[in-house]
Amino acid sequence: MAGDAEAGEKVFRKCKACHQVGPDAKNRVGPILNGIVGRTPASVEGFDYSDVLQGLADEGKTWTPEELAAFLEKPRDYAKGTKMAFAGLRKEDDRNDVIAYLATFSEA
Ligand code: HEM
Repeated sequence: MAGDAEAGEKVFRKCKACHQVGPDAKNRVGPILNGIVGRTPASVEGFDYSDVLQGLADEGKTWTPEELAAFLEKPRDYAKGTKMAFAGLRKEDDRNDVIAYLATFSEA
């Protein structure tokens, strides 16, 4: 499962149209992703999530690396009705690498 954060930075280019990370990150089309690994879904303040993402939180889910990998493979299958208009990351390495990259950003 262990991914390569450096390779993940390149994979994250696919996410940047909608998501920011780092100290100056702001919510855009998608929520900021600082601290996402290990966090409760739909918990970025001020972001208007879909009901399905909010529902994951209500079910008591946590964004573990495994849950993130399942979501990122096919977001719209994992979370039917999600507002994340992204087909997904087909390659397992890409999923693991981008999760390793995201894990380098703690919550501000
Ligand atoms: C939600 C990751 C690409 C738009 C999320 C969440 C994660 C994530 C982890 C859940 C956030 C939370 O629970 O706080 C990624 C990654 C991407 C990617 C790693 C690239 C591989 C995109 C793209 C878009 C987008 C390209 C826009 C076209 C959104 C939106 C949400 C979201 C709108 C909120 C979903 C909802 O409320 O249903 N993303 N994302 N994402 N993302 Fe992405």
